[in-house]
Amino acid sequence: MCGIVGYVGSRDAAPLLMEGLARLEYRGYDSAGLAIHDGKEIGIRRAPGKLRVLSRLLERKPLSGTLGIGHTRWATHGRPSEENAHPHRAGRVVVVHNGILENHSELRQRLEKKGRRFTSQTDTEVFAHLIDEELGRKPLEEAVRRALRYVRGTYALAVLCADQPDRIVATKNASPLVVGLCQNENLVASDVPAILEHTRKFVFIEDGELALVQAGRVKIQTPDGKPVRRRSRHIGWSPLMAEKGGHKHFMHKEIHEQPRALADTLTGRVLRDSADVHLDSVKLRVRDLKNLSRIVIVACGTSWHAGLVGKFLIERFARIPVEVDLASEFRYRGPILSDRDLVVAISQSGETADTLAAVREARKLGARVLCICNVMDSGIPRTSDHVLYTHAGPEIGVASTKAFVTQMAALFLLAVRLGRARKTLSEKEARKQLAALAAAPEHIERILKNEPHIQEIARAFHTTKAFLFIARGINYPIALEGALKLKEISYIHAEGYPAGEMKHGPIALIEKDVAVVAVATKNSTYEKVLSNLSEVRARDGQVIAICNQRDKKIETYSPHLLPVPATLDTVEPLLTILPLQLLAYHIANFNGTDVDQPRNLAKSVTVE
Ligand code: F6R
Repeated sequence: MCGIVGYVGSRDAAPLLMEGLARLEYRGYDSAGLAIHDGKEIGIRRAPGKLRVLSRLLERKPLSGTLGIGHTRWATHGRPSEENAHPHRAGRVVVVHNGILENHSELRQRLEKKGRRFTSQTDTEVFAHLIDEELGRKPLEEAVRRALRYVRGTYALAVLCADQPDRIVATKNASPLVVGLCQNENLVASDVPAILEHTRKFVFIEDGELALVQAGRVKIQTPDGKPVRRRSRHIGWSPLMAEKGGHKHFMHKEIHEQPRALADTLTGRVLRDSADVHLDSVKLRVRDLKNLSRIVIVACGTSWHAGLVGKFLIERFARIPVEVDLASEFRYRGPILSDRDLVVAISQSGETADTLAAVREARKLGARVLCICNVMDSGIPRTSDHVLYTHAGPEIGVASTKAFVTQMAALFLLAVRLGRARKTLSEKEARKQLAALAAAPEHIERILKNEPHIQEIARAFHTTKAFLFIARGINYPIALEGALKLKEISYIHAEGYPAGEMKHGPIALIEKDVAVVAVATKNSTYEKVLSNLSEVRARDGQVIAICNQRDKKIETYSPHLLPVPATLDTVEPLLTILPLQLLAYHIANFNGTDVDQPRNLAKSVTVE
């Protein structure tokens, strides 16, 4: 997501922080800023756009001092602008923050009632005010610790205080944070590459811990103030490896980021102790939702697959008919739309030409458009009536992974909201569904732990010439997505099919050199998928099965099993896609293809 760098020592901090931020540029950002303490006061410079805009600002209005923090922002709450860029100041306190504060609205209201004035739309500014409220004559670390009692959410935070010019206080929950150790100077960062040039000695901060970073010492404490003894780690990564967080490819890193990406997309939206969701920035009234006659989803590629899962969820929870269209087909068909239709456009980049054109066409025809997008303020959100942002963070690998999982989660939230508004989803059922959704990040963590086993299956199959992916019901789009992942990064021919269609054609392909990958989890279509697998086995086809843990029956169909935890069928796609992403990744890696930039493909398809 966003990037943090901090420095305390005897060198001029501003150029050092700018270099650090430049090393995080590859991750994508839309504004940047610095705060430098000159011994008397803290100066702040912020600018929307690229770092060179901030550089030019610093040339005109320089900052000097040996203590400072810097930030690159990837907008989540509030558009990319100068006032929303970090650092944020409240009184004597200045903060930079990565992550999302779940309860920022209620905290903001409370602080405003106390007379606090906010100058940005960000959740981060709440942190600055909370810490300033607590400060009094306390050490900064104590004020930060007290302020944290009020917040829920994910964060990595670095804080300065105007009248404590010798320290940075940093803390984290779910977002990464490291301290870099040097001689008579120390650094903090959200990511190793930002400060790798200065040190190879790192201390990784754990959730809830607080780091007091001064030029001559670093003190780490537990949430209740007890000292933590942690040995530093030597990081021998090359700068390129460091950009990828030690992963060989961005795609691999992004697959592993999915628990966090999913949690961030749900944060603040699944209402605790209630059976509903809050969709910030979707301003559709209950009356509008009740009166909808149809939903039309438009998207391309992986986002279209998410749309197919969305159809299943919306029809199940909200009992509204849903059509899912490929954006490239939509406007050439002379679509029939009215003001009682809601068009849902899905796009990771927000710039896909066909999806953007479909949005324009839909609006021209009088429909309202809600988009689900990962890049704030990109073309599609700007052209839509409502936006529901996924909080996957920048996706760099061309093959979409974490964006897909968060798109499905956003559609899940939308489906629950519609179901509750239209009274087609009972409170009890909504509560059950949301609890299962909230457990998904943990389930994904467990699937990721099984990676060595998935890698072994990939090794056994990496020379296979053709793959057929099959599934039924809500997992059918997962078969399509599994096939797309494999073909785009390994160049092996792969097709996704609804399992029930197999005998209407594709079964003719089955022979011993063809692998059939089946999603065979224990839901209502389980037995039917098993009978498809019998047909494959009878023709000597090889089977790889995504199944539930401890499923003994499936063992008779295949020795190649990729288990996922059992959950509600509606949540299954969030889990069943994981082994398929890893399978595709490892097959491509064994074959030595360019995983992050596969041939002929671009991350953002801005031409028709
Ligand atoms: C496949 C992939 C593409 C995109 C498609 C739409 O891994 O990434 O199929 O899903 O080009 O892109 P967005 O979602 O940016 O509109």
